[in-house]
Amino acid sequence: MEYKDLKKRADHHFPEIVEVRRHLHQYPELSYQEHQTTSFIQDKLKEMGIPCQQPLETGCVGIIEGKNPGDGPVVVLRADIDALAIDEEGAHKSNFISRNPGIAHCCGHDAHTANLLGTARILKDFQDEIEGKVLLIFQPGEEKLPGGGRMLCEQGFLQQQQVDVIYGLHTNPDFAPGQIGVRKGPLMARPDEFSILVRGSGGHAAAPHTTVDPIVVASEIVGALQTVTSRSVDPGEPAVVTVGKIEAGSAHNIIPEHAHMIGTVRSFSEETAQHINRRMERIVEGITHAHGASYDYKFDPGYPALVNTDWAVEHLGEEAVKLFGNESVRWMEKPVMAGEDFAFYLQHFPGAFFFLGTGSEESGSVYGWHHPKYNIDEQAFKTGAPLLASLALNFKKR
Ligand code: NI
Repeated sequence: MEYKDLKKRADHHFPEIVEVRRHLHQYPELSYQEHQTTSFIQDKLKEMGIPCQQPLETGCVGIIEGKNPGDGPVVVLRADIDALAIDEEGAHKSNFISRNPGIAHCCGHDAHTANLLGTARILKDFQDEIEGKVLLIFQPGEEKLPGGGRMLCEQGFLQQQQVDVIYGLHTNPDFAPGQIGVRKGPLMARPDEFSILVRGSGGHAAAPHTTVDPIVVASEIVGALQTVTSRSVDPGEPAVVTVGKIEAGSAHNIIPEHAHMIGTVRSFSEETAQHINRRMERIVEGITHAHGASYDYKFDPGYPALVNTDWAVEHLGEEAVKLFGNESVRWMEKPVMAGEDFAFYLQHFPGAFFFLGTGSEESGSVYGWHHPKYNIDEQAFKTGAPLLASLALNFKKR
């Protein structure tokens, strides 16, 4: 296989990849409810002559067998297929804006799916050059706990496959189309969730001395939580505590009974996450106690931190350079604080996750993940689809 032929095939399939992405974009579905999306993917795989299994209720896994499906390497390529509960905006997408109210592909999972279907096309073109087997995972529920990736890892399907390596990508507006963002070791954070309920005692707003005002207590907690990362975590270690939602009260003249806060903690290790968890609860305990209020505190562990396997990143970098030259690979100095359930696969198998550059002014792709105007520059498929194919075609067993 010549790299230029791989690129030629990718260019040949490019219009179809765009068409698929725009179709998926118009019919987004929420996590674990991706029924139409799953049958669409299954139909596409069938059309390509790729057999497909369905280990979970939604999503599916396509299997392309090469010369030695029993002996050769097993390479897994993963895309996620779910959308977000968000009302979409954006003139750049006016031809193919979401037709499902309140749901939209504002995290690029439509692009991940279309890109992997494009990779499937390319791999079929070079099927007799595949050594072992390539599994194409179209995974449900990336956006919502427990995580489709975790479910697939725990369900047993992947364990039976003797996986040698797994790769996945995410669209990223910080990089231009034609570029990829790569990093050895930690790439994405561990996102934990917390919930704090402050129980006070309500009453008339004009008689605060007869109440325990949960709004005042909650405000103090929000302020004090800012010291967790600034005073209790090593300054060299990235960590975030954010209260994302706060809810209390019903009228301007009533002191309510409760105040409720939820938020997220980001870190890169179990140890740091647990340290933050303990510090947070002590702050909540101390402040509520001081005011004569009480509390419920809950800390829900989310996905683990996403940590890439060094040799898998090296293979990725080499293939990208061979296909697109040195300038295409951007080595990232810092990890990002967003989370990804791809982290679960990397707890079971070696592999790497990377960022596919999709940012450009022309496409209006200047907004971050989960923004109502999120968009991608579709030129990125010319990089993403052949690169995944190349990772599979040129993989050597370790
Ligand atoms: Ni995403």
